[in-house]
Amino acid sequence: MCGIVGIIGNRVVSGRIVDALKRLEYRGYDSTGIATLIDGRIERRRAEGKLRSLEARLEREPLDGVIGIGHTRWATHGRPNETNAHPHVTDRLAVVHNGIIENFRQLRDELEGAGARFESDTDTEVVAHLISHAMSAGLDPVAAVTTILPRLRGAFALAILFQGRGDLLIGARRGSPLAVGHGEGEMFLGSDALALAPFTDMITYLDEGDIAVLSQTSLRIIDEAGSEAERPSQQIQTGAFMAEKGNFRHFMAKEIHEQPEVVARTLAHYVDMAEGVTNFPGGEGVDWTKLSRITISACGTAFYAGLVAKYWFERFARIPVEIDVASEFRYRDAPLEENGLMIVVSQSGETADTLASLRYARDNGQTILSVVNVPTSSIARESHAIAPTLAGPEIGVASTKAFTCQLTVLFALAIQAGRARGKLDAAREGALVSALMSVPALMNEAMKREPEIERLARELSKARDVLYLGRGTSYPMALEGALKLKEISYIHAEGYAAGELKHGPIALIDESVPVIVVAPHDEVFEKTISNMQEVAARGGRIILITDAKGAAAAGVETIATLVMPDVDPVVAPIVYALPIQMIAYHTAVFMGKDVDQPRNLAKSVTVE
Ligand code: AGP
Repeated sequence: MCGIVGIIGNRVVSGRIVDALKRLEYRGYDSTGIATLIDGRIERRRAEGKLRSLEARLEREPLDGVIGIGHTRWATHGRPNETNAHPHVTDRLAVVHNGIIENFRQLRDELEGAGARFESDTDTEVVAHLISHAMSAGLDPVAAVTTILPRLRGAFALAILFQGRGDLLIGARRGSPLAVGHGEGEMFLGSDALALAPFTDMITYLDEGDIAVLSQTSLRIIDEAGSEAERPSQQIQTGAFMAEKGNFRHFMAKEIHEQPEVVARTLAHYVDMAEGVTNFPGGEGVDWTKLSRITISACGTAFYAGLVAKYWFERFARIPVEIDVASEFRYRDAPLEENGLMIVVSQSGETADTLASLRYARDNGQTILSVVNVPTSSIARESHAIAPTLAGPEIGVASTKAFTCQLTVLFALAIQAGRARGKLDAAREGALVSALMSVPALMNEAMKREPEIERLARELSKARDVLYLGRGTSYPMALEGALKLKEISYIHAEGYAAGELKHGPIALIDESVPVIVVAPHDEVFEKTISNMQEVAARGGRIILITDAKGAAAAGVETIATLVMPDVDPVVAPIVYALPIQMIAYHTAVFMGKDVDQPRNLAKSVTVE
């Protein structure tokens, strides 16, 4: 989604704002802009496309000024061009915005009726004119902002600077994240702490509805009720944010290869290695023995992690699990039982649909457990219990290491729930824990298939459509494999439950459609093989991802068989994530796609 940066300082800010915006590029964007105050007057530079276009613009027309705001825009209303790029201005102020103002049309009509002249097609420009209009009625900037915010429906994070006010920068948030950074004689605003890492590691996160009033040396917070509020400041480990590519060509490649290490780090947080039992530090708010049902809600790849977890919780803890994508769940008005647990899964912890699902469940008496990669995120802060994934910053838009860390956490929690509910004895718990502990080494083994996968990618890059099949916990892996391939290579791909093939999708099969089958040699392997034979009988070209036993037993002609190391089927999804990620990565690289920032996509979807 969009990225916001603001600096109220004592030296020229334009270069630093651009640097901070670069640290938000991973969020995905298609235009950029910056505004500063020069001798009290607002000056603005904007550009379509990537930040290098804005930098070229600033080379030609430099911007002075010691107070400024900057923005990377992911278009929601209006085309991604310079006219619609932020900041949006009136004669009194400049504003940048992340989110969606749902009632912007009605507000725009009202403002145009009062004589306002709009230059863009964006919802954001309405905010600029609303504040300006309130100031024309005599309100000072803080009063004007406080007055108009309640009129906005939807989500926003805002940074605003004012003509003639070199001592004032205002931030506000509802539904989109915004952080305040504390510097030496300067203050900062940013969509997240990552953007502010080069300036400060002292951060104050704003709560829902907060307005932040900044000067060079002060921070005043006004809460949604209009009262003065205090929010805690915290020192963020910025070292963790120094995410660089190292000697990898893409962040996605680096993050794929980091998985054995970060999965090991994550499982160590949930497993007492010496005792061979699970633990859940911070999980006091969750009483597994009292649960009537678990509801899981997430989006995209995080949803597929939740789908695997459904199998695990039902199998190990004998708890009924309902799961739904957050964008559906939040509007379904689902009846939720007492003593229910909602598990939300989110890498960013800021996904708007997932946050809305959390709030619905919390308002309906559910205990909220969030599996997140950012423990200071909005979702984490609104949960009763947090189960962090220790994946480190995930910069590639396509989620990889966060996904396998989510699976690791969910597997550990399912075992713990089973043990607590007396469905697993100590021996079974120990066996499952040791299966989990074997995963990092097995992931390293699986990584050795990369050269074969790179060769296979050439073949796949010619495909127009690809089908992924799986059964049991391999079914969500088929869905994830299809998502990975389509989101970075733009090849159409679909994941299907293998048993569903004969109910329709088999009509797609001919020699032009590669079929990727995810099938460790588990209790449903034989069934999956018969589906593969149905495909082969119709000239389908099969790529089989299995283990040595599965390869020997398949008995079906394939264009490639990727033999994974022998792994306990219960944890196969975590290990088999690697080949499906590498298939997508190498296919997209071979096709010359922008692997880390695929078109139209954002790393954190903080709007509906
Ligand atoms: C995954 O590769 C995608 N980038 C996307 O589906 C992502 O998983 C989804 O938007 C959820 O994001 P979250 O985990 O930050 O909530």
